[in-house]
Amino acid sequence: MPDPLRAQQGPSRVELKARRTYFWCSCGRSKRQPFCDGSHAGTELTPARFTPGEDGEAVLCGCKRTGTRPFCDGTHNRLAVTDASASIPQHEAGEAGCLHLSAPKS
Ligand code: FES
Ligand code: FES
Repeated sequence: MPDPLRAQQGPSRVELKARRTYFWCSCGRSKRQPFCDGSHAGTELTPARFTPGEDGEAVLCGCKRTGTRPFCDGTHNRLAVTDASASIPQHEAGEAGCLHLSAPKS
């Protein structure tokens, strides 16, 4: 199993809807972080499907190393800082389909 790419150094806070099915990107390659856009094709990694029980904010892992997928468990605090933008295609906050609540750090 290949290691996932680190899409970002920390989590994304997103508003989720109850009973809607989401697919969290586990590979780190999606341009629609923290959600899957199909870019895992060709890897052995697959998205984590989940369905919230109620509306509300969730803190989803962006480093792809959490032990409580899809939610951040703080593991990112123990990872060395890297320049994720060197290997990960970036996108703008507010781009169609993007669910970032704040602009990604550059
Ligand atoms: Fe990363 Fe689908 S794009 S799991
Ligand atoms: Fe991955 Fe927090 S962002 S554990």
